[in-house]
Amino acid sequence: MGLKIAPSLLAANFSNLQADMDMINRSEADWLHLDIMDGVFVPNISFGFPVLTHVAKLCHKPLDVHLMIVSPEKFIPEVKALGAYMMNVHYEACPHLHRVIQQIKEAGMKAGVTLNPATPVALLADIIRDVDMVLLMSVNPGFGGQEFIPHTLEKVRELRALIERTGSSALIEVDGGVNDETAPQLLEAGADVLVAGSYVFKSPTPEDTIHALKAL
Ligand code: DX5
Ligand code: ZN
Repeated sequence: MGLKIAPSLLAANFSNLQADMDMINRSEADWLHLDIMDGVFVPNISFGFPVLTHVAKLCHKPLDVHLMIVSPEKFIPEVKALGAYMMNVHYEACPHLHRVIQQIKEAGMKAGVTLNPATPVALLADIIRDVDMVLLMSVNPGFGGQEFIPHTLEKVRELRALIERTGSSALIEVDGGVNDETAPQLLEAGADVLVAGSYVFKSPTPEDTIHALKAL
């Protein structure tokens, strides 16, 4: 199976997305990670559906959509229309998480739940069998290029134990501050998918950087 790598569009060159998507298509990247922000749930705004519609046409890898917005369920049809493979919603943004997860699956997408750094893994006990993935934030969401929060490693181990105990088939994805130092630690702790923004796109040879992460 091996580690999956999902480069994050947030760190791409927005003045030449075609070139960056060609690179992603040629690379060993497994998915493309798309960060949608609303300036309310997180203190930043990234890009929205008019831009992502074009990105979706240029990118031939499965799309891993990370919604950092309030009421993410309102946008299930738009995310589906992008052709998304996985739709991740924040635990903190969904008072009716069970319903939202079912709606995402009914729309024909894989459903992921995301936890902010201060949200405990234990809160997933009653939803872990229903989700296809848990996305653990290893930085506070809203910005690329931040430093990895080391406590995430303990959360990955705790989540791995919860998944094993419950017989869940959820994947563990980690997002924020992934680089050549943190990626091996996350793999060892039990992560299945790593998001990498700055480390991939700001590298002089992004394709080689993706290859190096895949070879871990
Ligand atoms: C942050 C986003 C991340 C971001 C990661 O809110 O969810 O996906 O792109 O960026 P890096 O890899 O630079 O920490
Ligand atoms: Zn993200």
